[in-house]
Amino acid sequence: MPVSTHITPAYMEGGFLQNSKECDIELLEVVGVIPDWLQGELIRNGPGQVMVDKPMRHWFDGLAMLHRFHIANGKVAYRSRFIDCAAFRATQKEGRITYSDFATDPCRTLFQQLQTIFNPDPKITDSAKVNVGQIGEKTFAWGEPLMQIQIDPETLKTVGVYDYGKYGGNRMTTAHPLVDEHGAYNLVVQYGPINFYKIYEISGDAKELASVPVQLPGYMHSFGMSENYFIIAEYPLVVQSIMLLFRAKPFIENFDWKPRMGSRFIIIDRKTGKRVSTIKVPAFFSFHHVFAKEKDGLLEVDLCAYENADIISEYYKERLVQSDNPLPKGSMWRFTLNLEKRTCIERRELADVCLELPVIHHAFAHRHGSYRFVYGCGVNEANPTEFYNQIVKIDIESASAKHWYKPNHYPGEPVFVANPDARTEDDGVLLSVVLDTQNKQSYLLVLNALTFEEMAKASLPHTILFGYHGTFLHRN
Ligand SMILES: [Fe+2]
Repeated sequence: MPVSTHITPAYMEGGFLQNSKECDIELLEVVGVIPDWLQGELIRNGPGQVMVDKPMRHWFDGLAMLHRFHIANGKVAYRSRFIDCAAFRATQKEGRITYSDFATDPCRTLFQQLQTIFNPDPKITDSAKVNVGQIGEKTFAWGEPLMQIQIDPETLKTVGVYDYGKYGGNRMTTAHPLVDEHGAYNLVVQYGPINFYKIYEISGDAKELASVPVQLPGYMHSFGMSENYFIIAEYPLVVQSIMLLFRAKPFIENFDWKPRMGSRFIIIDRKTGKRVSTIKVPAFFSFHHVFAKEKDGLLEVDLCAYENADIISEYYKERLVQSDNPLPKGSMWRFTLNLEKRTCIERRELADVCLELPVIHHAFAHRHGSYRFVYGCGVNEANPTEFYNQIVKIDIESASAKHWYKPNHYPGEPVFVANPDARTEDDGVLLSVVLDTQNKQSYLLVLNALTFEEMAKASLPHTILFGYHGTFLHRN
């Protein structure tokens, strides 16, 4: 009889499987010194409940929990709350998964399955668990359904739901709206007899700025924006929209990878809303746009990219628990596009360094029209089959990287906070929530972004599930 040598990674329990609880802790134990200028709150979003009547299957499933680390005068307070929404309330009441998530659907009886086919009511989760950020003075939690939940950043209570008004319906959006001095924008995919990619202005009442018909819509997690253009990078992970209307399978499992279609950049003029160029390139996949810049009549688009969309399958927990193979490697790619000639002049990997959850100093990049450093999570070569186990800082000018790595410590997305007196792009700190599997606890790491030296850590008495994105709100 063959003997299994498989060992479950220690991070599965705390990072992917164990439900979190709401709590308030007035004072976390801090080791090290938090800089005086760091005053405000880190708010992070991610799954908080992943086990209901059955376990949720994928890293991108779960009921949203917000985590607030309030930093003042070197001290740290912590608060966690589930996002109050219809999916959360129904799940607590019924004790079972009641809404469809990214890769997990509720259990259905045969009767319910037939009912779903003849009376499609997908009840897609409104638990906005992916991202958190600000538009004007308002703070929002964002997910991919058209449900953007306004929260109070202090209490983490739901204040309201952003109203897409007449633009509601059978549409999905991204959890990565883009904001500049002109407004706030998001990409929306509308499914129906004719499918569309749309750009909405969302800083006030929702307003449609652009609409591009598409036969087979792709799965897109973010989009790009330069001074004059919106950039839709479309990957050949596509869906027949009728499959989504009947929803026999969880959302993402209706999509197929069709590499022969290639990928496309659809470029839209921000002023007119008209499509100015469509540029086909060999197939690739990406979750995250990083930056876009117009230069010498060309458009440079930087993304954290993959050769294909296998990374989505690798985030199923049944795959993560096996840990036999490394995760597919994402890295920084730059596409240089000639919009007039509708050609991609160059596709270049900016650094051969594993990266996901990329972060840059956005204000600096916006001010200077360029950036040099990108931070994120990666996998250290010492333990190449693990989940993300290090924080990286990539210098794209020299294609070199620094990293912060500790065996048995698993960091989340590093949020960059600039020193108010900064003289360089990387003068600031990175804030990351790290899972320490040996001590079975998570902690907030304050890392010097310039030197990559640890400055401080504020420890929790428990673990926090691996989340996705966060933001830092300054308080004076
Ligand atoms: Fe994301």
